[in-house]
Amino acid sequence: MKILVTGKNGQLGQQLQKQAPAHTTVIAHGRDTLDVADKEQVFAVLQQAQPDLVINAAAYTAVDKAESEVEQAHAINAQGPENLALACRELGIRLIHVSTDFVFDGQQPQPYCPEAPRNPLSVYGQSKARGEEAIERILPEAITVRTAWVYDRDGGNFVNTMLRLMNDRDQLGVLADQIGTPTWAGTLAQCIFALAANDGAKGIYHCTDAGVASWYDFAVAIYEEGKAAGLIAKEKPVQIKPITTADYPTPAVRPAYSVLDKSRLVEDSGIELNHWRQVLREILAT
Ligand SMILES: NC(=O)c1ccc[n+]([C@@H]2O[C@H](COP(=O)([O-])OP(=O)(O)OC[C@H]3O[C@@H](n4cnc5c(N)ncnc54)[C@H](OP(=O)(O)O)[C@@H]3O)[C@@H](O)[C@H]2O)c1
Repeated sequence: MKILVTGKNGQLGQQLQKQAPAHTTVIAHGRDTLDVADKEQVFAVLQQAQPDLVINAAAYTAVDKAESEVEQAHAINAQGPENLALACRELGIRLIHVSTDFVFDGQQPQPYCPEAPRNPLSVYGQSKARGEEAIERILPEAITVRTAWVYDRDGGNFVNTMLRLMNDRDQLGVLADQIGTPTWAGTLAQCIFALAANDGAKGIYHCTDAGVASWYDFAVAIYEEGKAAGLIAKEKPVQIKPITTADYPTPAVRPAYSVLDKSRLVEDSGIELNHWRQVLREILAT
């Protein structure tokens, strides 16, 4: 199977290249060779490459910056998937798109099912919701995988920010009133390939590691696992204090609760999801 991946330098883009099953050929494009917001280029590159499947790992992911870069966020997160869906429909290519828990408002008291109504609170969430809607309208047989709190060993993400701060500071305040689930980018890539192997899979799937955490819980786990893995050199213990969203205002409003119900993914992919803490331990130890 020939698979074209967009956004090859991002966290997911990198893991899609690492986790690709042996029988696949991956053609990976960065923004420099395939700008998903450029409709003509999308059609030209897909027509030339003739892949069996496109996986869209390209996105505008600067959640707070999106509040002041509305047009750019929509061009990449809404127009981008629309361009891909139009090209895939015309050329008969299967499409897997990736979206976010930020399409929800976080007011629900239990995990969100894929069919729960979207009600984004931020520009980023709105742009991703528009992307999902475009795909549903243009290519209903496409797959959209929503994920959350993505990290990898490399790159700018919460885990690496925490490790840096924990090496520099004696005290940290971390949000304890936003609840979700950390997700290793490798888990997401593995789930995407497992769904790709199921010809009947279509529509929206939810994919995170297993379990539930606040950012505070996640930070404490990063500290403990980071220490155990020798990634925090400082002898003096770091005090991690739980704080609230009111203590730490950001330009973008985030959902207070965005745990995703993964049952549809588990059923259709056959994948067993591991608890986020176990995954974090393994990733920090390698
Ligand atoms: N990170 C999270 O916590 C999180 C949470 C929920 C959902 N998601 C979703 O998961 C997916 C993967 O996220 P990620 O963490 O891998 O993001 P990431 O690390 O920020 O990677 C996104 C990649 O997309 C590229 N890109 C940006 N604009 C582009 C364009 N116009 N055309 C082509 N490529 C473009 C970026 O390139 P440059 O490096 O050149 O900017 C970057 O390499 C996204 O759909 C995201 O919305 C992520």
